[in-house]
Parts: sequence; structure tokens; C-alpha cells
Amino acid sequence: MATFVIDKAHVVTHFNQACALTLDITAARALGHKDIGKVFYGDDRPMMVDLIVDGLMEQAVNDLYQSSYRSSLKVPHAYEAEHFFLNLGNGGRWLFFTAAPIYNKHGELVGAIETVQDITERKVAEEALMKAQLEVEQIVEQRTSELAAVNQTLREDVNRREAAEHELLKRNDELQTLYTRLSEVKEHLIQSEKLASIGQLAAGIAHEINNPIGYIFSNFGTLENYLAQLFNMLDAYEKAETDLQSCTTGQTLKGKREAFDLEFLKEDIPVLMRESKEGIVRVRKIVQDLKDFSHVDTNSDWQFASLNQGIDSTLNVINNEIKYKADLVKEFADLPELQCMPSQINQVVMNLVVNAAHAIGPERGKITVRTGQEGEQVWLEVADTGSGIPPDVLPRIFDPFYTTKPIGKGTGLGLSLSYGIIQKHHGKIEVNTNVGQGTSFKVWLPLKQPAASSPMSNP
Ligand SMILES: Nc1ncnc2c1ncn2[C@@H]1O[C@H](COP(=O)(O)OP(=O)(O)OP(=O)(O)O)[C@@H](O)[C@H]1O
Ligand SMILES: [Mg+2]
Repeated sequence: MATFVIDKAHVVTHFNQACALTLDITAARALGHKDIGKVFYGDDRPMMVDLIVDGLMEQAVNDLYQSSYRSSLKVPHAYEAEHFFLNLGNGGRWLFFTAAPIYNKHGELVGAIETVQDITERKVAEEALMKAQLEVEQIVEQRTSELAAVNQTLREDVNRREAAEHELLKRNDELQTLYTRLSEVKEHLIQSEKLASIGQLAAGIAHEINNPIGYIFSNFGTLENYLAQLFNMLDAYEKAETDLQSCTTGQTLKGKREAFDLEFLKEDIPVLMRESKEGIVRVRKIVQDLKDFSHVDTNSDWQFASLNQGIDSTLNVINNEIKYKADLVKEFADLPELQCMPSQINQVVMNLVVNAAHAIGPERGKITVRTGQEGEQVWLEVADTGSGIPPDVLPRIFDPFYTTKPIGKGTGLGLSLSYGIIQKHHGKIEVNTNVGQGTSFKVWLPLKQPAASSPMSNP
């Protein structure tokens, strides 16, 4: 261990061989001299031993050694430090040195001892380590920033994907809306087409029949008059017949009267005339109903119309569908006029009643059509004693094209169209059904349409 000692006068009193080797000087250069600081620092500044000898350690050590020194943990009043000495060796040396006071037997300070240790190699290794660590840190930092960049790209990618997904969802929603709209339009088209063709047919037939019925009806009036006159004339002839009893003409007349059963003819002809007239009146009524049903006189806009009358004319038109299968019972309440599209409401009634008739099996059944009012709402009900609707069918009956009927019998559109019409009227439809006992459909309609949809708009 390189060691040197100074006395109280700062003169080097001991300087060992190891110290000479460490500092690259001869012991003679140091021994007996005070300027040992020059060897270390190039100028004669105080060494730690000098400070200890002068008792200035506490004040000066901070200025001279800054943070590189510390108090010895074992020896009282001793210090140790690390420092780089540019003057020493080839290009400088790192030294670790300790300094401690020396006392005589009376406990008086007589000098100080310093040890010096070359730690250049350790320092170089440390520095290399530091450098390597720094490089590693730099690499880590660079990798971290590269990762951050990749992360950022990824995040942007995710964001882009999310945006694309969002866009897709939006598109999907739009498509869905469009699809719903399309279905509505299709429903509307089919419905108007169906209505239009029925209406046209009805209107055509009504028109064609109306004229001949007109003149048959008026001819009948004239014919009744003529017949009355003819019967008068016949009475006169009959009276004359008694005067002619003796002659052959009288006999011939009597024979003919008996052969033709004139008495019977005179009774039967007016009956036939009355019955025919009733028939024609009925035909006229049917024509009128057809016209009402198709509403050829009016366009299909919103208007105030009698629900009961609409139902009546519809029932007359479809009477054929019903009369062989069921008895029809009408229970109508007195109702105020309803704001509606009459031909469409008729269409609903027709669908419900025809469905009711179809639901009735081979045994004769009963169809009851009721109407009523509750506050600002009117209702119509079509109840049958038919098959009822099984629970697995019930949820689907309003679906377009859903039918349980054989091909050609049902298109499955009746209820879906009716549903659309009722919705357009801001109403609702309720179903009550018992399998094996029958079904009733009840339609609720507001007497007046909300301001926005009436009377001008026809959706
Ligand atoms: N009153 C009813 N009783 C029993 N089942 C009914 C009744 N009304 C409707 N359904 C059932 O609902 C289905 C759908 O009725 P919807 O009126 O929509 O179509 P459809 O009568 O089959 O055919 P379309 O009316 O187009 O000729 C019917 O096929 C039937 O199964
Ligand atoms: Mg139907």
C-alpha cells in the first residue's frame, strides 16, 4: 500500500517504495519536502494530510474535494476520496486515497498519514461499463421510440378500422332503413294494385249493368200500367162474354178462358211482376254497392264516411263467399262519420270477413260483425266460429305472404295489407283466438286523423 507521512510542519517524513512506484518519483524527491501537492496536482496546493495537520479539514475539504470525499467509517477524523490526477502517469491516473491524523503518546497531533491506491483500471472498466450501459440505454430508448412509432401506427390502424367498421354499421343501418322503406313501398304498391284492379272491375261491371237496369226498371213501370189497362180490358171482355153465352163465339171464349186458366193468370202475373221488380231493385242495390265499394265516384283521399255503410256495402259484395258457409249477424252501433279512406277500410273489412269465412269448416258457422265507439275511437269487430289460430301460427299472420291456405287459395297478403292500412289510419288491430272455437279481429280507428296526416296527404 503506497503510504506517506507528514509532520506538523507539513514536511514529508515517510515515503514508502510503493508510493514512489505509484507516483513515478523517487522517495528522495518527496522526503524532507513540503511541496508534495505539486507531484499530485502540478501546483503546490494542500493535500488532505495538510488540512488534517492544520485542523482545517472541516472548512477546506468541501472546496478542494467537492463531493468526491467522505469521512472514514472506521477511523475518527480520517477521510477518504477518489480523484483523477492529470499529472500522473501517462495521461493521468485515478487514485483512491485516505488521510488520517497521527498522535503521540500524549494524544497530541504530530502529523498525518496518507495512503494512495491506483484505481485507474477499475475506473476505466467502470467507464467502459457506463459507456456500454449508456449505449444499451440509447438502444433501449431508440427501440422504445421505434415501438412507440409502431404502436402509434397500430393505433392509427385500429382507429381506421374502427372508423371503417363504424361506417359499415352506418351503411348497414341505411340499407336496413332503405329495405324497410322498400318493403313498405312494395306493400303499398301491391295493395293499391289489388285495390285498383278490384275497383276497376267493380266500376266496369257497375257501369255496364247500370244502363240496362235503368231502362228495364223504367220499362217495368210502363209495363205495370199497360197490364193494368189490359186487365181492365179483359174484365170488359169477361162481362161481354155473359151476353154472348148463346152463340158459338161465346162458347169458344169460355173454352179458351178455361184452357188458359185466365183466373190463375190474372192472379199470377202481378205476383211475377212484383217479384221481378224486387229482383231488379236488388240488382240496382248491388250495383250501387259495387260503386260504393270501389268508390269510383270519389278519389281515394281522406274523407268523412259512415263506417257502418261501408261495412254494409262490402258485405253485400262478398255475400257469395259467406252465405253458404255461415250466418251473418250484424250488430252495429250508431256511429259518427269517420275520417278515413273508405275504399281502404272496405278492403280491411273484406279481408277480415273472407278470412272468417275461410276459417269455418264444413259445418255451418256464424260470423258476427260489430261496431262501436269509445270516446274518440270507433271499433269494428269480425268474430267467427271457425278453426281458431294455433299458437305457432299466430305470431306470423301479419307477415306478408304468410298463408296456411293451399296454393291458389291464399296469397298471404290480406292481413299484412290490412295491417298497413290500419297503421296509416293511426289505428290498431287486436286478435283474440281459441283453437277449435273461433277468432275475433278487432280494429280500432281514431274518429279524426292527427293534423299532420289529414286530410290532404295520402301517404
Ligand atoms: N279468422 C281466422 N281464423 C283462422 N285463421 C286465420 C283467420 N284469419 C287469418 N288466419 C290465418 O292467417 C293467415 C294469413 O291470413 P291472410 O289474410 O294474411 O292471408 P290468406 O288469407 O292466407 O291469403 P289472402 O288473404 O292473401 O288471400 C291465414 O292463412 C290463416 O292461417
Ligand atoms: Mg286472407
